[in-house]
Amino acid sequence: MSNSIRQALETDDDNLALLKVLADNSFDSILVTDATKAGKIIYVNKAFTKLTGYGQDEVIGQTPRILQGTGTDRKVIKELATALSAGRKFEGKAINFKKDGSPFIMHWRVLPVKVGGKIRAWVAIQRETSGL
Ligand SMILES: Cc1cc2nc3c(=O)[nH]c(=O)nc-3n(C[C@H](O)[C@H](O)[C@H](O)COP(=O)(O)O)c2cc1C
Repeated sequence: MSNSIRQALETDDDNLALLKVLADNSFDSILVTDATKAGKIIYVNKAFTKLTGYGQDEVIGQTPRILQGTGTDRKVIKELATALSAGRKFEGKAINFKKDGSPFIMHWRVLPVKVGGKIRAWVAIQRETSGL
């Protein structure tokens, strides 16, 4: 974060308001999970709903595994799981499924949110792509 933005946004509320505007209005899908082993969804933006067909109320408290199904490459998911348990970021592509059951190729970047060295949440930036 630059010093200019630190000076302009002094309080936690300022920072949260900025993040909310950014995430709510992103063209890319954004999904946040808590830091528990279960990895429960605590936030999705409108672009996630547009991409997957799942509304926010339907997915909060669930895990992103709801997007997987027959055809999802278990090797990629295993690499992701290994990165998560090591606290590392991961980028990959796999077949996921929309709420209506239609398959699509999801490209994600999953990153830890670290505060004082401790992981507090995980963020994924997601978009549909055309090739694996
Ligand atoms: C922030 C975050 C976003 C994720 N998004 C997706 C996703 O869009 N599609 C997907 O197939 N898996 C996604 N995952 C992976 C699953 O939640 C889970 O971690 C993965 O399936 C490995 O666990 P498992 O081996 O127990 O299934 C995401 C994980 C995290 C932490």
